[in-house]
Amino acid sequence: MDTLKSIRTRQSIGKVKSDPVSRDMIEKLLSAAVQAPNHYKVRPWRFVVLMGEAREKLGEVMAQTFLDKFPDLPPEAQEKALEKERSKPLRSPVLIAVGVDKPNASKVIEIENVCAAAAACQNLLLAAHDLGLAAKWRTGDPARDPKVKGFLGFEPDQHLIAFLYIGHPEFEPSPVDRPSFEDRTTWMD
Ligand SMILES: Cc1cc2nc3c(=O)[nH]c(=O)nc-3n(C[C@H](O)[C@H](O)[C@H](O)COP(=O)(O)O)c2cc1C
Repeated sequence: MDTLKSIRTRQSIGKVKSDPVSRDMIEKLLSAAVQAPNHYKVRPWRFVVLMGEAREKLGEVMAQTFLDKFPDLPPEAQEKALEKERSKPLRSPVLIAVGVDKPNASKVIEIENVCAAAAACQNLLLAAHDLGLAAKWRTGDPARDPKVKGFLGFEPDQHLIAFLYIGHPEFEPSPVDRPSFEDRTTWMD
């Protein structure tokens, strides 16, 4: 697909089929991700690909962290909320968690590592779109939770910037019409 068309037509798609995504496709996505620019070529992105039961385990951790935050809900509301947390990672057959390396040298700046990892995420979303896959970038409280980070192998002070939900789309979404760049742009001569 033409790059500009791909950028224009990509959109978040949350509703996906439970059909598996092939390993070959997932590797294509990761390969696209790592083409992103990154200062000092530090390759600060870390990907954790979760499929199958790994998603259930992540859901358990998310439920636990919810319980840590809201221990005093009435039992019925609590069970409902926990079930919701457990089911979140099951929304798609593949989830790719994206973490960011902390700077490993004084010249490396944290925000630049985050920017590079975010660029990798966008590459991945565009590649998914190109392959006819549905993808959605999600974060929420779990992305900032030390227990969730620990489960994924990240340090508590490492940024976990994305859960990229990937699957085969349930239906073709209608085209999106996004606001123009004009009110966000200043031209300087
Ligand atoms: C850093 C980041 C975090 C996001 N977190 C969430 C999220 O937690 N839940 C969600 O529904 N969408 C999340 N999104 C997706 C945005 O909601 C989505 O990109 C936006 O609505 C625009 O839709 P589009 O991707 O179709 O253009 C996130 C996007 C980014 C870049």
